[in-house]
Amino acid sequence: MLLAPSILSADFSQLKEDIETVREAEWLHIDVMDGHFVPNLTIGPLVVKALRPHSEQVFDTHLMITHPEAYIDAFIEAGSDQITFHIETVDNAEALIDALHEKGVKAGISIKPATDIAAIEPYLHKLDLVLVMSVEPGFGGQAFMPASLDKIRQLAHIKEAKGYDFAIVVDGGINQETAKLCTEAGANVLVAGSYIFKAKDRAKQMDTLRV
Ligand code: DX5
Ligand code: ZN
Repeated sequence: MLLAPSILSADFSQLKEDIETVREAEWLHIDVMDGHFVPNLTIGPLVVKALRPHSEQVFDTHLMITHPEAYIDAFIEAGSDQITFHIETVDNAEALIDALHEKGVKAGISIKPATDIAAIEPYLHKLDLVLVMSVEPGFGGQAFMPASLDKIRQLAHIKEAKGYDFAIVVDGGINQETAKLCTEAGANVLVAGSYIFKAKDRAKQMDTLRV
């Protein structure tokens, strides 16, 4: 099981110091929002570029933006290692997955709580990760939606049955209790923002998710 702290809940006036406090986590989750696909504005490639020299973690970039294809080059140049886009934002998911792979980064697709697994099933064989949203995308600190556990189970089932190797990532409302439910359902990666960054001792707080 891998951890991906979401820097959305970090202190933006001292991001460099804050990411140092979560260096034991394998990935760093970067939430990119455009005020259009979701009602919030956050991080662009400039911030990714500024953080890149200060971390060796996998930069896991979650694009919550329309026209993700227009921005992938900028995020790759800035230092993203993997890019996840929302299935609800693209006409040709396969072309975008292929483009990401050709450019040397890992490709992920995310689904909103109202979107079924069926929408991404045709692409699962090509994906490096699937990001199941367990809250409505847009903000940190929301309550976990238990219906997402079923999606995790469905994905784990397909993965096992077909021998695929995408990571099952869950994002939103993760705490000690929901982490356990997600891991039991088959998730391999936990994204957590407020739960990790609200704690004084982040390393200890992250350990509570690894049980
Ligand atoms: C929400 C973002 C999440 C968010 C999670 O749209 O995709 O990554 O930071 O925050 P918590 O863990 O506080 O729910
Ligand atoms: Zn996210």
